[in-house]
Amino acid sequence: MAASRSTFTNKFGFIAAAAGSAVGLGNIWKFPFEVGKGGGSAFLIIYLIFCFVLCYPILVTEIAIGRRSQKSAAMAFRPLGHPRWSIVGILGVFCGVVILSFYNIVAGWVLGYFVEMLLGNFAIGQQFGEYVNDIAEVGGYTLAFLIATAYIVSQGVTKGIEKASKILMPVLIAIILVLTVYAMTLDGALDGITFYLVPDFTKLNLNVIYRALGQSFFSLSLGLGALMTYGSYLSRKENIISAGAMITFADVGIAFLAGLMIFPFVFSQGIEPEGGAGLIFMTMPGIFESMGPTLGIAVGSLFFLLLAFAALTSTISLLELPVAYLVDKHKVKRKYAVWYAAAVIFLLGIPSMLGNGYSEYFTKFITYVGAEQPVNFMDFVTDVASNTLLPFGGLMVSIFSIYIWKRRKLFRELSHGYPEFPRTFIARYIGFTLQYICPPVLGAIFIITILEIFFGVKII
Ligand code: TRP
Repeated sequence: MAASRSTFTNKFGFIAAAAGSAVGLGNIWKFPFEVGKGGGSAFLIIYLIFCFVLCYPILVTEIAIGRRSQKSAAMAFRPLGHPRWSIVGILGVFCGVVILSFYNIVAGWVLGYFVEMLLGNFAIGQQFGEYVNDIAEVGGYTLAFLIATAYIVSQGVTKGIEKASKILMPVLIAIILVLTVYAMTLDGALDGITFYLVPDFTKLNLNVIYRALGQSFFSLSLGLGALMTYGSYLSRKENIISAGAMITFADVGIAFLAGLMIFPFVFSQGIEPEGGAGLIFMTMPGIFESMGPTLGIAVGSLFFLLLAFAALTSTISLLELPVAYLVDKHKVKRKYAVWYAAAVIFLLGIPSMLGNGYSEYFTKFITYVGAEQPVNFMDFVTDVASNTLLPFGGLMVSIFSIYIWKRRKLFRELSHGYPEFPRTFIARYIGFTLQYICPPVLGAIFIITILEIFFGVKII
Protein backbone atom coordinates (compact mmCIF):
# COMPACT_ATOMS: atom_id res chain seq x y z
CA MET A 1 0.00 0.00 0.00
CA ALA A 2 3.00 2.26 0.53
CA ALA A 3 3.03 3.43 -3.05
CA SER A 4 -0.45 4.87 -2.88
CA ARG A 5 0.07 6.50 0.48
CA SER A 6 -1.06 10.06 0.47
CA THR A 7 1.16 12.61 2.15
CA PHE A 8 0.66 15.96 3.76
CA THR A 9 1.23 18.77 1.31
CA ASN A 10 3.80 20.48 3.52
CA LYS A 11 5.12 20.80 7.00
CA PHE A 12 2.45 23.23 8.06
CA GLY A 13 -0.19 20.74 7.01
CA PHE A 14 1.41 18.07 9.14
CA ILE A 15 1.85 20.32 12.15
CA ALA A 16 -1.69 21.57 11.86
CA ALA A 17 -3.02 18.03 11.68
CA ALA A 18 -0.84 16.67 14.48
CA ALA A 19 -1.47 19.70 16.67
CA GLY A 20 -5.13 19.39 15.74
CA SER A 21 -5.01 15.85 17.04
CA ALA A 22 -3.30 16.92 20.23
CA VAL A 23 -5.45 19.95 20.93
CA GLY A 24 -8.96 18.94 21.76
CA LEU A 25 -11.25 18.17 24.64
CA GLY A 26 -8.16 16.98 26.45
CA ASN A 27 -6.96 20.57 26.76
CA ILE A 28 -10.15 22.46 27.35
CA TRP A 29 -12.44 19.96 29.03
CA LYS A 30 -10.23 17.32 30.64
CA PHE A 31 -7.17 19.31 31.65
CA PRO A 32 -9.04 21.88 33.78
CA PHE A 33 -11.04 19.30 35.65
CA GLU A 34 -8.01 17.13 36.25
CA VAL A 35 -6.20 20.17 37.62
CA GLY A 36 -9.24 20.84 39.79
CA LYS A 37 -9.32 17.28 41.11
CA GLY A 38 -5.57 17.18 41.54
CA GLY A 39 -5.58 20.20 43.84
CA GLY A 40 -4.52 22.87 41.37
CA SER A 41 -0.95 23.98 40.95
CA ALA A 42 0.67 20.76 42.20
CA PHE A 43 -0.96 18.88 39.36
CA LEU A 44 0.00 21.59 36.87
CA ILE A 45 3.69 21.46 37.76
CA ILE A 46 3.93 17.69 37.56
CA TYR A 47 2.04 17.78 34.29
CA LEU A 48 4.42 20.33 32.76
CA ILE A 49 7.45 18.30 33.80
CA PHE A 50 6.01 15.16 32.26
CA CYS A 51 5.14 16.92 29.00
CA PHE A 52 8.50 18.47 28.36
CA VAL A 53 10.90 16.01 29.95
CA LEU A 54 9.30 12.68 29.24
CA CYS A 55 6.72 13.07 26.54
CA TYR A 56 8.53 15.21 24.00
CA PRO A 57 11.20 12.56 23.28
CA ILE A 58 8.48 9.93 22.96
CA LEU A 59 6.52 12.18 20.64
CA VAL A 60 9.36 12.64 18.17
CA THR A 61 10.14 8.92 18.37
CA GLU A 62 6.57 8.00 17.51
CA ILE A 63 6.62 10.28 14.49
CA ALA A 64 10.01 8.87 13.42
CA ILE A 65 8.82 5.27 13.73
CA GLY A 66 5.81 6.07 11.58
CA ARG A 67 7.81 7.88 8.92
CA ARG A 68 10.50 5.22 8.80
CA SER A 69 8.13 2.29 8.52
CA GLN A 70 5.59 4.05 6.30
CA LYS A 71 2.96 2.15 8.19
CA SER A 72 0.11 2.97 10.51
CA ALA A 73 0.33 2.28 14.24
CA ALA A 74 -0.49 -1.40 14.39
CA MET A 75 1.87 -2.27 11.55
CA ALA A 76 4.72 0.13 12.18
CA PHE A 77 6.74 -1.96 14.64
CA ARG A 78 7.03 -5.03 12.47
CA PRO A 79 9.30 -3.78 9.67
CA LEU A 80 11.63 -2.11 12.19
CA GLY A 81 11.92 -4.93 14.65
CA HIS A 82 10.46 -8.20 15.68
CA PRO A 83 6.95 -9.21 14.54
CA ARG A 84 5.95 -9.73 18.14
CA TRP A 85 6.05 -5.99 18.67
CA SER A 86 2.93 -5.63 16.55
CA ILE A 87 1.05 -6.49 19.73
CA VAL A 88 1.95 -3.06 21.07
CA GLY A 89 0.53 -1.46 17.95
CA ILE A 90 -2.63 -3.50 18.15
CA LEU A 91 -3.03 -2.61 21.81
CA GLY A 92 -2.81 1.00 20.69
CA VAL A 93 -5.58 0.54 18.17
CA PHE A 94 -7.76 -1.09 20.80
CA CYS A 95 -7.01 1.69 23.25
CA GLY A 96 -7.85 4.32 20.63
CA VAL A 97 -11.22 2.70 20.03
CA VAL A 98 -11.96 2.70 23.74
CA ILE A 99 -10.90 6.32 24.21
CA LEU A 100 -12.95 7.42 21.23
CA SER A 101 -16.00 5.65 22.63
CA PHE A 102 -16.21 8.08 25.55
CA TYR A 103 -14.57 11.05 23.86
CA ASN A 104 -17.41 11.11 21.39
CA ILE A 105 -19.96 11.39 24.12
CA VAL A 106 -18.30 14.43 25.62
CA ALA A 107 -18.14 15.88 22.11
CA GLY A 108 -21.89 15.18 21.96
CA TRP A 109 -22.38 17.25 25.13
CA VAL A 110 -20.39 20.02 23.51
CA LEU A 111 -22.59 20.00 20.42
CA GLY A 112 -25.66 20.01 22.64
CA TYR A 113 -24.34 22.96 24.61
CA PHE A 114 -23.65 24.79 21.36
CA VAL A 115 -27.34 24.52 20.54
CA GLU A 116 -28.40 25.52 24.06
CA MET A 117 -26.19 28.61 23.84
CA LEU A 118 -27.71 29.52 20.51
CA LEU A 119 -31.09 29.34 22.18
CA GLY A 120 -29.86 31.52 25.01
CA ASN A 121 -30.47 28.80 27.59
CA PHE A 122 -27.72 29.76 30.04
CA ALA A 123 -29.44 27.94 32.89
CA ILE A 124 -28.16 24.72 31.34
CA GLY A 125 -25.00 25.23 33.38
CA GLN A 126 -26.84 24.32 36.57
CA GLN A 127 -28.67 21.49 34.84
CA PHE A 128 -25.61 19.61 33.63
CA GLY A 129 -26.50 16.57 35.76
CA GLU A 130 -29.94 16.26 34.19
CA TYR A 131 -28.74 17.17 30.73
CA VAL A 132 -26.33 14.27 30.41
CA ASN A 133 -29.11 11.88 31.32
CA ASP A 134 -31.32 12.99 28.50
CA ILE A 135 -30.16 9.92 26.65
CA ALA A 136 -32.12 10.50 23.48
CA GLU A 137 -30.70 13.98 23.04
CA VAL A 138 -27.13 13.21 24.09
CA GLY A 139 -27.21 10.01 22.05
CA GLY A 140 -28.37 11.94 19.01
CA TYR A 141 -25.61 14.52 19.26
CA THR A 142 -23.03 11.83 19.90
CA LEU A 143 -24.14 10.00 16.82
CA ALA A 144 -24.10 13.19 14.76
CA PHE A 145 -20.60 13.90 15.90
CA LEU A 146 -19.38 10.42 15.14
CA ILE A 147 -20.90 10.56 11.68
CA ALA A 148 -19.10 13.85 10.99
CA THR A 149 -15.81 12.30 12.10
CA ALA A 150 -16.37 9.19 10.02
CA TYR A 151 -17.27 11.23 6.96
CA ILE A 152 -14.04 13.24 7.13
CA VAL A 153 -11.92 10.16 7.74
CA SER A 154 -13.57 8.41 4.83
CA GLN A 155 -12.34 11.24 2.59
CA GLY A 156 -8.73 10.33 3.32
CA VAL A 157 -5.99 12.05 5.17
CA THR A 158 -4.80 14.94 3.09
CA LYS A 159 -8.07 16.34 1.93
CA GLY A 160 -10.09 16.03 5.10
CA ILE A 161 -7.79 16.34 8.07
CA GLU A 162 -5.47 18.98 6.80
CA LYS A 163 -8.12 21.33 5.56
CA ALA A 164 -10.20 21.21 8.73
CA SER A 165 -7.23 21.70 11.06
CA LYS A 166 -5.64 24.59 9.24
CA ILE A 167 -8.62 26.89 9.45
CA LEU A 168 -10.01 26.13 12.85
CA MET A 169 -7.10 25.96 15.23
CA PRO A 170 -6.10 29.63 15.02
CA VAL A 171 -9.67 30.79 15.56
CA LEU A 172 -9.99 28.66 18.66
CA ILE A 173 -6.80 30.07 20.14
CA ALA A 174 -8.05 33.59 19.52
CA ILE A 175 -11.33 33.06 21.34
CA ILE A 176 -9.63 31.44 24.34
CA LEU A 177 -7.26 34.39 24.56
CA VAL A 178 -10.12 36.85 24.56
CA LEU A 179 -11.98 34.86 27.23
CA THR A 180 -8.84 34.66 29.35
CA VAL A 181 -8.53 38.43 29.34
CA TYR A 182 -12.20 38.70 30.30
CA ALA A 183 -11.66 36.17 33.10
CA MET A 184 -9.01 38.37 34.65
CA THR A 185 -11.46 41.22 35.11
CA LEU A 186 -13.91 39.23 37.24
CA ASP A 187 -14.26 39.20 41.03
CA GLY A 188 -12.66 36.09 42.39
CA ALA A 189 -10.18 35.92 39.53
CA LEU A 190 -7.31 36.14 41.95
CA ASP A 191 -8.46 33.12 43.97
CA GLY A 192 -8.63 31.17 40.75
CA ILE A 193 -5.15 32.19 39.72
CA THR A 194 -3.80 31.36 43.16
CA PHE A 195 -5.36 27.92 43.08
CA TYR A 196 -3.93 27.32 39.62
CA LEU A 197 -0.48 28.83 39.88
CA VAL A 198 0.74 29.16 43.45
CA PRO A 199 2.46 25.87 44.31
CA ASP A 200 1.00 23.86 47.17
CA PHE A 201 2.86 20.60 47.45
CA THR A 202 0.82 19.36 50.36
CA LYS A 203 -1.65 18.24 47.70
CA LEU A 204 0.91 16.08 45.97
CA ASN A 205 0.36 12.32 46.14
CA LEU A 206 0.57 9.23 43.97
CA ASN A 207 -2.86 9.80 42.54
CA VAL A 208 -1.88 13.25 41.33
CA ILE A 209 1.29 11.92 39.71
CA TYR A 210 -0.58 9.09 38.06
CA ARG A 211 -3.29 11.30 36.68
CA ALA A 212 -0.86 14.01 35.56
CA LEU A 213 1.11 11.42 33.64
CA GLY A 214 -2.01 10.03 32.01
CA GLN A 215 -3.14 13.54 31.17
CA SER A 216 0.15 14.46 29.52
CA PHE A 217 -0.02 11.40 27.28
CA PHE A 218 -3.69 11.92 26.55
CA SER A 219 -3.26 15.56 25.71
CA LEU A 220 -0.30 15.01 23.40
CA SER A 221 -2.06 12.08 21.69
CA LEU A 222 0.79 9.81 22.69
CA GLY A 223 1.16 6.19 23.57
CA LEU A 224 -1.01 4.45 21.06
CA GLY A 225 0.55 5.30 17.78
CA ALA A 226 -1.72 8.07 16.56
CA LEU A 227 1.34 10.08 15.68
CA MET A 228 2.98 7.09 14.01
CA THR A 229 0.11 7.02 11.62
CA TYR A 230 0.49 10.74 10.94
CA GLY A 231 4.27 10.36 10.72
CA SER A 232 3.79 7.73 8.05
CA TYR A 233 2.23 10.43 5.90
CA LEU A 234 5.08 12.90 6.51
CA SER A 235 7.73 13.68 3.93
CA ARG A 236 11.40 12.88 4.53
CA LYS A 237 12.27 16.51 3.89
CA GLU A 238 10.66 17.70 7.09
CA ASN A 239 12.35 18.26 10.41
CA ILE A 240 10.63 16.12 13.04
CA ILE A 241 12.49 17.70 15.93
CA SER A 242 11.16 21.19 15.29
CA ALA A 243 7.72 20.01 14.20
CA GLY A 244 7.49 17.97 17.41
CA ALA A 245 8.50 20.96 19.48
CA MET A 246 5.83 23.10 17.88
CA ILE A 247 3.19 20.46 18.49
CA THR A 248 4.21 20.14 22.13
CA PHE A 249 4.28 23.88 22.73
CA ALA A 250 0.96 24.42 21.01
CA ASP A 251 -0.71 21.68 22.99
CA VAL A 252 0.71 22.51 26.39
CA GLY A 253 0.26 26.22 25.73
CA ILE A 254 -3.42 25.84 24.95
CA ALA A 255 -4.05 23.62 27.97
CA PHE A 256 -2.25 26.12 30.18
CA LEU A 257 -4.31 28.94 28.75
CA ALA A 258 -7.53 26.98 29.24
CA GLY A 259 -6.62 26.68 32.92
CA LEU A 260 -5.92 30.37 33.14
CA MET A 261 -9.32 31.04 31.64
CA ILE A 262 -11.37 28.54 33.61
CA PHE A 263 -10.22 28.91 37.23
CA PRO A 264 -11.05 32.60 37.55
CA PHE A 265 -14.46 31.70 36.08
CA VAL A 266 -14.88 28.80 38.49
CA PHE A 267 -13.98 30.82 41.56
CA SER A 268 -15.94 33.89 40.52
CA GLN A 269 -19.08 31.75 40.48
CA GLY A 270 -18.32 29.82 43.64
CA ILE A 271 -18.21 26.48 41.82
CA GLU A 272 -16.22 23.62 43.35
CA PRO A 273 -13.01 23.06 41.32
CA GLU A 274 -13.09 19.34 42.19
CA GLY A 275 -16.35 18.97 40.31
CA GLY A 276 -15.03 16.50 37.74
CA ALA A 277 -16.17 15.96 34.18
CA GLY A 278 -18.87 18.62 34.36
CA LEU A 279 -16.53 21.46 35.26
CA ILE A 280 -16.52 23.48 32.04
CA PHE A 281 -20.14 22.63 31.31
CA MET A 282 -21.22 23.98 34.68
CA THR A 283 -18.94 27.00 34.57
CA MET A 284 -19.02 28.47 31.09
CA PRO A 285 -22.78 29.12 30.62
CA GLY A 286 -22.85 31.38 33.69
CA ILE A 287 -19.96 33.36 32.27
CA PHE A 288 -21.67 33.85 28.95
CA GLU A 289 -24.81 34.91 30.77
CA SER A 290 -22.81 37.60 32.56
CA MET A 291 -21.96 39.14 29.19
CA GLY A 292 -25.59 40.01 28.55
CA PRO A 293 -27.96 38.16 26.20
CA THR A 294 -26.68 39.21 22.78
CA LEU A 295 -22.99 38.97 23.43
CA GLY A 296 -23.52 35.93 25.63
CA ILE A 297 -25.29 34.04 22.89
CA ALA A 298 -22.69 35.02 20.30
CA VAL A 299 -19.62 34.21 22.36
CA GLY A 300 -21.17 31.17 24.06
CA SER A 301 -22.23 29.48 20.88
CA LEU A 302 -18.94 30.33 19.15
CA PHE A 303 -17.02 28.87 22.08
CA PHE A 304 -18.83 25.54 22.04
CA LEU A 305 -18.79 25.40 18.26
CA LEU A 306 -15.04 25.86 18.15
CA LEU A 307 -14.60 23.38 20.94
CA ALA A 308 -16.59 20.90 18.87
CA PHE A 309 -14.23 21.53 15.96
CA ALA A 310 -11.19 21.08 18.18
CA ALA A 311 -12.68 17.81 19.31
CA LEU A 312 -13.29 16.85 15.70
CA THR A 313 -9.65 17.17 14.69
CA SER A 314 -8.86 14.87 17.62
CA THR A 315 -11.56 12.30 16.95
CA ILE A 316 -10.34 12.19 13.36
CA SER A 317 -6.92 11.06 14.56
CA LEU A 318 -8.44 8.53 16.92
CA LEU A 319 -10.72 7.02 14.30
CA GLU A 320 -7.82 6.95 11.84
CA LEU A 321 -6.16 4.35 14.08
CA PRO A 322 -8.57 1.44 13.63
CA VAL A 323 -9.31 2.54 10.08
CA ALA A 324 -5.65 2.59 9.00
CA TYR A 325 -5.28 -0.78 10.69
CA LEU A 326 -8.17 -2.31 8.78
CA VAL A 327 -6.98 -0.72 5.53
CA ASP A 328 -3.27 -1.56 5.86
CA LYS A 329 -3.52 -4.93 7.49
CA HIS A 330 -6.78 -6.43 6.33
CA LYS A 331 -7.05 -4.61 3.03
CA VAL A 332 -10.55 -3.44 3.82
CA LYS A 333 -11.65 -0.55 1.64
CA ARG A 334 -11.33 2.75 3.51
CA LYS A 335 -14.96 3.66 3.04
CA TYR A 336 -16.16 0.40 4.61
CA ALA A 337 -13.53 0.36 7.35
CA VAL A 338 -14.63 3.80 8.52
CA TRP A 339 -18.27 2.93 9.03
CA TYR A 340 -17.55 -0.44 10.53
CA ALA A 341 -15.19 1.09 13.11
CA ALA A 342 -17.63 3.92 13.83
CA ALA A 343 -20.44 1.48 14.57
CA VAL A 344 -18.34 -0.51 17.02
CA ILE A 345 -17.22 2.70 18.73
CA PHE A 346 -20.76 3.96 19.13
CA LEU A 347 -21.90 0.72 20.75
CA LEU A 348 -18.91 0.66 23.06
CA GLY A 349 -19.76 4.18 24.19
CA ILE A 350 -23.24 3.34 25.41
CA PRO A 351 -22.18 2.26 28.93
CA SER A 352 -20.26 5.54 29.32
CA MET A 353 -23.34 7.43 28.26
CA LEU A 354 -25.54 5.60 30.77
CA GLY A 355 -23.02 5.86 33.59
CA ASN A 356 -23.74 9.45 34.58
CA GLY A 357 -26.76 8.59 36.67
CA TYR A 358 -29.09 7.02 34.14
CA SER A 359 -28.13 3.46 34.96
CA GLU A 360 -27.21 2.65 38.53
CA TYR A 361 -25.08 -0.25 37.33
CA PHE A 362 -22.81 1.81 35.07
CA THR A 363 -22.81 4.80 37.43
CA LYS A 364 -21.43 2.76 40.30
CA PHE A 365 -19.58 0.49 37.98
CA ILE A 366 -16.64 -0.62 40.05
CA THR A 367 -15.03 0.02 43.42
CA TYR A 368 -11.29 -0.47 43.35
CA VAL A 369 -9.89 -2.57 46.17
CA GLY A 370 -9.47 -0.37 49.22
CA ALA A 371 -11.27 2.60 47.66
CA GLU A 372 -14.22 4.26 49.36
CA GLN A 373 -16.31 5.29 46.40
CA PRO A 374 -17.25 3.39 43.27
CA VAL A 375 -16.33 5.02 39.96
CA ASN A 376 -18.57 5.22 36.94
CA PHE A 377 -17.91 3.49 33.67
CA MET A 378 -16.33 6.49 31.98
CA ASP A 379 -13.90 7.04 34.85
CA PHE A 380 -13.04 3.37 34.87
CA VAL A 381 -12.34 3.39 31.16
CA THR A 382 -10.27 6.56 31.55
CA ASP A 383 -8.23 4.96 34.32
CA VAL A 384 -7.51 1.86 32.31
CA ALA A 385 -7.20 3.12 28.77
CA SER A 386 -5.89 6.60 29.20
CA ASN A 387 -4.11 6.75 32.54
CA THR A 388 -2.59 3.27 32.45
CA LEU A 389 -2.30 2.02 28.90
CA LEU A 390 -1.11 5.25 27.26
CA PRO A 391 1.95 5.59 29.52
CA PHE A 392 2.49 1.86 29.05
CA GLY A 393 2.51 2.45 25.30
CA GLY A 394 5.07 5.20 25.85
CA LEU A 395 7.19 2.80 27.86
CA MET A 396 7.08 0.31 25.02
CA VAL A 397 8.01 2.99 22.48
CA SER A 398 11.07 3.98 24.48
CA ILE A 399 12.23 0.39 24.94
CA PHE A 400 11.56 -0.44 21.33
CA SER A 401 13.44 2.55 19.97
CA ILE A 402 16.57 1.96 22.05
CA TYR A 403 16.82 -1.82 22.26
CA ILE A 404 15.06 -3.17 19.20
CA TRP A 405 15.16 -0.54 16.50
CA LYS A 406 18.32 0.98 18.01
CA ARG A 407 19.20 4.53 18.81
CA ARG A 408 21.49 4.83 15.76
CA LYS A 409 18.65 4.17 13.36
CA LEU A 410 16.29 6.41 15.24
CA PHE A 411 18.84 9.20 15.01
CA ARG A 412 19.34 8.56 11.32
CA GLU A 413 15.62 8.90 10.73
CA LEU A 414 15.50 12.07 12.77
CA SER A 415 18.32 13.56 10.73
CA HIS A 416 16.28 13.47 7.54
CA GLY A 417 15.21 17.07 7.31
CA TYR A 418 17.72 18.02 10.02
CA PRO A 419 21.20 16.74 9.01
CA GLU A 420 23.07 18.21 12.01
CA PHE A 421 20.74 16.47 14.43
CA PRO A 422 23.07 13.69 15.75
CA ARG A 423 25.62 16.29 16.83
CA THR A 424 23.17 18.47 18.73
CA PHE A 425 22.43 18.69 22.42
CA ILE A 426 18.84 17.77 21.76
CA ALA A 427 19.98 14.45 20.29
CA ARG A 428 21.90 13.61 23.43
CA TYR A 429 18.95 14.65 25.50
CA ILE A 430 16.49 12.50 23.55
CA GLY A 431 18.79 9.49 23.58
CA PHE A 432 19.41 9.81 27.30
CA THR A 433 15.75 10.25 28.19
CA LEU A 434 14.57 7.34 26.08
CA GLN A 435 17.19 5.06 27.54
CA TYR A 436 17.59 6.12 31.15
CA ILE A 437 14.54 8.12 32.17
CA CYS A 438 11.51 6.72 30.38
CA PRO A 439 11.91 3.02 31.16
CA PRO A 440 12.48 3.30 34.92
CA VAL A 441 10.07 6.17 35.53
CA LEU A 442 7.26 4.90 33.35
CA GLY A 443 7.85 1.33 34.46
CA ALA A 444 7.78 2.23 38.14
CA ILE A 445 4.69 4.40 37.86
CA PHE A 446 2.98 1.68 35.87
CA ILE A 447 3.60 -1.00 38.47
CA ILE A 448 3.02 1.13 41.53
CA THR A 449 -0.21 2.60 40.28
CA ILE A 450 -1.66 -0.72 39.20
CA LEU A 451 -0.97 -2.13 42.60
CA GLU A 452 -2.06 0.90 44.58
CA ILE A 453 -4.91 2.31 42.59
CA PHE A 454 -6.59 -0.81 41.37
CA PHE A 455 -5.63 -3.28 44.07
CA GLY A 456 -5.23 -1.08 47.12
CA VAL A 457 -1.72 -2.33 47.95
CA LYS A 458 0.09 0.35 49.94
CA ILE A 459 3.58 0.78 48.52
CA ILE A 460 4.59 4.38 49.06
N1 TRP B 1 -5.11 14.62 22.43
C1 TRP B 1 -6.52 14.71 22.22
C2 TRP B 1 -7.09 15.71 23.18
O1 TRP B 1 -6.37 16.26 23.95
C3 TRP B 1 -7.19 13.36 22.31
C4 TRP B 1 -6.54 12.38 21.41
C5 TRP B 1 -6.57 12.41 20.06
C6 TRP B 1 -5.76 11.29 21.78
N2 TRP B 1 -5.81 11.39 19.57
C7 TRP B 1 -5.31 10.69 20.60
C8 TRP B 1 -5.38 10.79 23.00
C9 TRP B 1 -4.47 9.61 20.64
C10 TRP B 1 -4.55 9.69 23.02
C11 TRP B 1 -4.08 9.12 21.88
O2 TRP B 1 -8.24 15.98 23.18
